[in-house]
Amino acid sequence: MPTRRRGIAEGGHATRVAVVRCIVAAILAAIVVAGLVALVFWLVVRPKPIEYTVTRAVVRHFNVTPPPAATVNATFYLNLAIDNPNRRISMRYEDSVAIRVLYGEDGTELVLAAGDDVPGFHQPHHNETTLPVRAVARSAPVPDQVARELEHDLAAGELSVDVQVIAGVRFIVGGVASRYYRVHGTCSPVNIGLSPSAARSFNSVPCDVEIS
Ligand SMILES: *[C@@H]1O[C@H](CO)[C@@H](O)[C@H](O)[C@H]1NC(C)=O
Ligand SMILES: *[C@@H]1O[C@H](CO)[C@@H](O)[C@H](O)[C@H]1NC(C)=O
Repeated sequence: MPTRRRGIAEGGHATRVAVVRCIVAAILAAIVVAGLVALVFWLVVRPKPIEYTVTRAVVRHFNVTPPPAATVNATFYLNLAIDNPNRRISMRYEDSVAIRVLYGEDGTELVLAAGDDVPGFHQPHHNETTLPVRAVARSAPVPDQVARELEHDLAAGELSVDVQVIAGVRFIVGGVASRYYRVHGTCSPVNIGLSPSAARSFNSVPCDVEIS
């Protein structure tokens, strides 16, 4: 009897080992399959980063009322090129695209002008779209120090600003939409000549694009 009992116990142990082995093998197989699926997806889709570029920047009606109670008037005309270089990914800009003109040092920048609303749109694969944007500051109050810097720029004939782009997108592959991502573009510095002929010599400014 004792011998038989031991035999049963050993048999149970062997079964447990076999079950554990089977589970481990299944997990490894699942990891390999998931890796292959990811690799094939990557090879087929070949995701490339989207690119934003400010290709035109002009300012009109730029003037500053000096301190105290300094205010600024300015109308910015910007072209923002939005490039989707992907052959298999199209993009849906879900919310309106917000474009703002910032002025000042990093960290203490203020919004000088906010662009007109650009409504959401669908961007096909392998496509570049240029958004013309007008951003207006009308009697916008600014701190005295900023007004003095703006007057300095006005006298120097060049205004240096940053352009900020905020959008919400979904990536679409084969009709399936990804989760919602926030896109944050910063184009800096955008140097805008104030002379009437400056627009022709404007150098395009590429933007840093972060997706989160
Ligand atoms: C800015 O524009 C407003 C409205 O058009 C005008 O009343 C104001 O005088 C302008 N300010 C400057 C500094 O030109
Ligand atoms: C990009 O897509 C827009 C909107 O669908 C279209 O109007 C435009 O012609 C496309 N541009 C190119 C270069 O394919």
